[in-house]
Amino acid sequence: MAPLILPFVFLAYLVLYSIALSIPTIPNFLSVGRAQQQQVLKSPLDTWIEQQERIALDKLLANVSPGGRNVKDAAKGSVIASPSREHPNYFYQWVRDAAITTSTLVDLYTDEPSSKLSSDLSNILDDYSDLQYKLQRTSNPSGTFDDLSGLGEPKFEADGSPFIGSWGRPQRDGPPLRALTLMTYLRAYNESHPGLWTSAGAEDWYKDLYDPSLPANSIIKADLEYTSHFWNQSGFDLWEEVDGFHFFTAMVQLKALREGAELAKAFQDKGAAQWYAEQASYVEAFLQQFWDERSGFLVETLNTDRTGLDCALLLGSLHGYPSKYSHDTPVFPPYSEEILISFLRLVQDQQERFPINAAPSSSEDGVAALEGIGIGRYPEDVYDGYGNDKRGGNPWFLCTASAAEVLYRTADHLISTGNLEISPIGIRFYEALLSSSSLEPEIDRSYGPSDALFHSVIERLRNTGDEFIDVIKTHTDAQGSMSEQFDRVTGYERGARDLTWSYGAFLQAIRARKRVL
Ligand code: NOJ
Ligand code: NOJ
Repeated sequence: MAPLILPFVFLAYLVLYSIALSIPTIPNFLSVGRAQQQQVLKSPLDTWIEQQERIALDKLLANVSPGGRNVKDAAKGSVIASPSREHPNYFYQWVRDAAITTSTLVDLYTDEPSSKLSSDLSNILDDYSDLQYKLQRTSNPSGTFDDLSGLGEPKFEADGSPFIGSWGRPQRDGPPLRALTLMTYLRAYNESHPGLWTSAGAEDWYKDLYDPSLPANSIIKADLEYTSHFWNQSGFDLWEEVDGFHFFTAMVQLKALREGAELAKAFQDKGAAQWYAEQASYVEAFLQQFWDERSGFLVETLNTDRTGLDCALLLGSLHGYPSKYSHDTPVFPPYSEEILISFLRLVQDQQERFPINAAPSSSEDGVAALEGIGIGRYPEDVYDGYGNDKRGGNPWFLCTASAAEVLYRTADHLISTGNLEISPIGIRFYEALLSSSSLEPEIDRSYGPSDALFHSVIERLRNTGDEFIDVIKTHTDAQGSMSEQFDRVTGYERGARDLTWSYGAFLQAIRARKRVL
């Protein structure tokens, strides 16, 4: 894997170069004025967010090798789920958690290529890919690399050896998530080095990530092969409990196959490009089955006795949303009425379920308001962070953060398209959103910047998003630590401490918030 170091050396150069270019010698008085203005307008929530952003990134990186203070005795390149080694033991590397966290780091890098993070990031990605390459080829209870079945293994020991205890396996979201993280990175890198894929000198290093002729040698190609051959077989959900077919898994499979087809085309891997695109079209059609006409919302798992409402619907929509490098039409994007109505139903359930969530206020005509509250995984959940509690589960940081992100992304979409259409599917969502105003949304008409309702919707989306963030603020401790859950009665943190994914989900919600401010 030595050649893989090369791109990161380039990257480090690029970063240093751009820092050098951006050092201003003449102060820009206009921007100083603007900064002062912003200071004046800053709310307590804004101040907390700014500080918490830094803390969250620091605590996330503490769980990531190289450099992380909590991963000193884990394999090089590890991303552990949490430093907690007992009650519960989360000192493992889950393929899903690691891929999601690393993709947040890639996103932060592309937002601000000259930030301090960038120089660390090159090392992190180098070691992450190195270790993932090894994990892919490590035989484990899900299978081996030869027939790719081993790629469905959900978690490994912190030293990189297989985890042999009984577990909900295989889980088929890991390979597409990992492929997506690395594909986005490859795209971002290529963007700053146009033409690299075709220049002879660069061939060596990218082949470790994608080699058309030798899938056995490349990480992305192996994950795409796995995804394209196994998406039509059942597996365990992201919560590791139910064997079946799941919305979250299918959404990330679709995204990986579509973007994989594009990548294959760019590498002249024509047969594969066609095969991935064809499988993607089947997954896209299959996804329609998750819309439950009878209940009027999406379900996370097909054919179960659960309601189907689940924060994984929000996560599927967010993680399945096409990257900025793709030209694909989004399927069930965060702003779609199918997602928004499922969001409303989930919020209504969780509001009543958890004592820390106060009852919603309602309007004169009795419409319950949509308010920011603590959100857990799903109504029937009994996992309390340590074991099972028959009385039920708790709100989770990462679910509450994704609720905020869905609303911010919806506001962002409306601002950029200038168009809001409301159909019978989504009307209840908009009624609940606007319940505190005198405006009444109407079905089958479209609203734009010349309508008062359009502006109210955007404002309410932003404010309700902030309410969810405010709930996170309330339950985050004074040091800025976020565990997995917070207690449904006392509000205190529960479950694995310093959960890497909690920090990542918070940072993603704040990224989305910045785009709509
Ligand atoms: C640990 C799993 O990771 C979690 O998702 C599950 O709910 C509990 N075990 C209980 O089975
Ligand atoms: C339990 C969650 O259910 C699962 O999604 C996650 O991968 C593990 N914890 C590790 O954070």
